[in-house]
Amino acid sequence: MDSINKVTVTSNPNNEPVSIDGVTSDLKCIGLGTDAAVFYCYNAPNFAFKKYAKGKTIKVTKEAEVYKNLGVSPYFSTCYASYEDFLVVSFEEGLTLFDCLLQGIHIPQQVIFDVENAREYARNKGLNPRDLHLKNILLQNGRAKIIDVSEYLEAENDFRWEYLRKGYDLYYPLFNGRKVPIWLVELIRKIYLQKR
Ligand SMILES: Nc1ncnc2c1ncn2[C@@H]1O[C@H](COP(=O)(O)OP(=O)(O)O)[C@@H](O)[C@H]1O
Ligand SMILES: [Mg+2]
Repeated sequence: MDSINKVTVTSNPNNEPVSIDGVTSDLKCIGLGTDAAVFYCYNAPNFAFKKYAKGKTIKVTKEAEVYKNLGVSPYFSTCYASYEDFLVVSFEEGLTLFDCLLQGIHIPQQVIFDVENAREYARNKGLNPRDLHLKNILLQNGRAKIIDVSEYLEAENDFRWEYLRKGYDLYYPLFNGRKVPIWLVELIRKIYLQKR
């Protein structure tokens, strides 16, 4: 905990990932989101520590509440505890779908079905499953694991998942098993953000 408290996380404009400072040697940064940075601690290998950027810490309680409402589900990571500016969640193995595309790792149809079922599950718990983009879903043993539920208390659909699903159905067969260049993934992301 001490080490997590020493880290500073700062957000950046234009939906760019956060910046971090003060990371001690017992921690490894395993992901940068637009609101938070996620750390693996060598002394606590089953957990991941999601530390929110200054000014974004209101989201900690929101995300903790979403996890409480979700209960136990194989589709989502588990939240064990929440503090002022960070959450303790289950460390989840696997690559994000974003990394799968870049590395040419096959994303099976089952992942799409899992996310659809996960959304259904969340809706049945009175939540609004959104912000489902490539970096918020892991491929784990051929199945999907959703690792970011921070926006599920918000209203409206952002249609991120619908776009991804359409892209998968229409274009994934063209790339299947081949590496997708990062500029193409970034271009599609920018087009989505502009259209919004
Ligand atoms: N429980 C977890 N296990 C492993 N990696 C994770 C976990 N949670 C997040 N990550 C990694 O950290 C990145 C950022 O976390 P995320 O929760 O999406 O932050 P943000 O809310 O800022 O988008 C993810 O894209 C993923 O690569
Ligand atoms: Mg995220």
